[in-house]
Amino acid sequence: MTKLSKAYKMLTKLSPARKFNNYTMINHFESQTPSNTWPQEWKTVYYKAYPRFDQIILPLPSSKRFDLFQALSSRISIRNFSCKPVSLKQLSNLLYYSVGLKRILVKTESESRMYPSAGARYPLEIYLFIFNVQNLENGVYHYHLKTHSLELIPSENMKSQALKQVNQEWLKESGFFIIPTAVFDRTEVKYKDRGYRHTMTEYGHIAQNVYLIGTALGLGVCSIGGFIDEGFNKILDLDGRTESIVGLIAIGSKKQ
Ligand SMILES: Cc1cc2nc3c(=O)[nH]c(=O)nc-3n(C[C@H](O)[C@H](O)[C@H](O)COP(=O)(O)O)c2cc1C
Repeated sequence: MTKLSKAYKMLTKLSPARKFNNYTMINHFESQTPSNTWPQEWKTVYYKAYPRFDQIILPLPSSKRFDLFQALSSRISIRNFSCKPVSLKQLSNLLYYSVGLKRILVKTESESRMYPSAGARYPLEIYLFIFNVQNLENGVYHYHLKTHSLELIPSENMKSQALKQVNQEWLKESGFFIIPTAVFDRTEVKYKDRGYRHTMTEYGHIAQNVYLIGTALGLGVCSIGGFIDEGFNKILDLDGRTESIVGLIAIGSKKQ
């Protein structure tokens, strides 16, 4: 058996996910070319916005310091939420310190955010399903980074629709869901298929930030892997191809 047919036989035995991993084990040297030769589509940073929908400006995040060691060592997944609403200030702090644009508080011209992004392509958008947050109407929102505000996306029976897409009863007590979605092309235009891996890695960075900041703010956080992608995409009016849900994180006030 030739080396090539042996390699082919091995590849055909693999699951589609593992095949994808092998297929993307190539180094895209074109992405390591000098930055002055990069095409514009590798450099433009996109900010999704819903200008025709109502906008809710969040209170400015506080500049208080978080104890990182304390947050790391006390972080656990919480599945017991109290009926106490999450405050708008807690929501503002959580969004800013987990996924926010640094220049909202810090003097800088840069596009840098609280998490790293391969090639600074920033493929992820942040949506919120709000169930129990003080002074905030329940509903579906998009986080508008540049203004640290929320855009209210029209939806009907949002909570019951959202709960149909997850099969864990306790989630109905949560204060809100954070739902990151990926606009895949933003990263794949530069890194091709390997860009998909970068996008999922980036989601991991965000999710850990949410856990740590949520813990530091005294909130309960739990990452959720079991959800119906298509159902959430439908609520968010996403086609699931150019943009699709990549994760779900449930957050709420902790039971004392
Ligand atoms: C990708 C991912 C998916 C998860 N999905 C669920 C889930 O659907 N339901 C749940 O109750 N916990 C879920 N968890 C939480 C894990 O069960 C939890 O992190 C693990 O048991 C370790 O416990 P700890 O987070 O308290 O340290 C998920 C965690 C990750 C990272």
